[in-house]
Amino acid sequence: MSGRARSLTGSAGTALLASAAFAACGGPYSTFRPGGPEAAAVATISWWISGFMVLVTLIMAGLVLVGALRRRGTLAEHLPVDAPDDKRWIIFGGIGVPVLVLTILFLLTVGTLRHIPSATDDVDLDVEVIGHQWWWDIRYLDPDHERRFTTANELHIPVGAKVRVTLKSVDVIHSFWVPRLHGKLDLIPNHTNRLVLQAGEPGVYRGECAEYCGTQHANMRFLVIAEPPEQFAAWVNRQQQPAHTSTSPQLVRGRQAFEEYACGLCHTIRGTRARGQVAPDLTHFGSRQTIAAGTLPNTRARLQAWIVNAQSLKPGTRMPSLSTFDSETLNAITAYLASLQ
Ligand code: CUA
Repeated sequence: MSGRARSLTGSAGTALLASAAFAACGGPYSTFRPGGPEAAAVATISWWISGFMVLVTLIMAGLVLVGALRRRGTLAEHLPVDAPDDKRWIIFGGIGVPVLVLTILFLLTVGTLRHIPSATDDVDLDVEVIGHQWWWDIRYLDPDHERRFTTANELHIPVGAKVRVTLKSVDVIHSFWVPRLHGKLDLIPNHTNRLVLQAGEPGVYRGECAEYCGTQHANMRFLVIAEPPEQFAAWVNRQQQPAHTSTSPQLVRGRQAFEEYACGLCHTIRGTRARGQVAPDLTHFGSRQTIAAGTLPNTRARLQAWIVNAQSLKPGTRMPSLSTFDSETLNAITAYLASLQ
């Protein structure tokens, strides 16, 4: 290979590495692309810490290089390890520098935490998020109990509003993380944590569980959908309604099958006989973008596959594989669920 060709290959490789590194900074889970004020404070400290670490790494690499390039000398020429000159380096490099570095990081962190409220009453909306293996139970609280409602795996918020999210868990420790909107916070059994979520611009922000919680930890995802206030109000209005009832024979058959088979023992569909409390509320299932907590897109085909063989799509999930339905019943159930807008 000619020198020119080699240098071209080398620069292509460097460009590829650099673009891979920057792509990692810009993805849907990137803390470097903040979507709200709390996340902006986290992004600022992330840049400071990253820059500081690059600086420390460069200094260390430089020192290693200097050591490697120095004339080595003979053993007799070296000072003994307990000579006063060598001790100074151990005290300065081994204690002084780490204390300095950690103190700077500590002060940066404490400064950032002041911009991230957790226990304020000055909020526009109250939501409770309950962690389950492996999905998110989302309850919109309201002083008026008639106006409360429950959904799952999809948290809608109005743009600009301060949303207090109360975090709980029914089983093990999970962690609520929407990298573009806030830092992580754990959901702990028998303990309540709170954070204030705020999105500066409309959009779909991806979130996921950030604490290992069992086999399907990696498939415990959710969406935060920030929308203009009037669009959010319309969404709330729809969610507060019980499931719509249709007279179409297929949808009636689907609803009856859902109520009569095991589905209704675990899931609730408000306005029907399905009142289960251990699995996601499906009252407005058709309006959601994903199924199985962000694992699959919410399409008719995926839903049928999920009902028939959930255990192969998400091994270990509490949803059993229900392979006993004939195809007409399966079509009716999925058509009914899709109609729950
Ligand atoms: Cu829930 Cu990891």
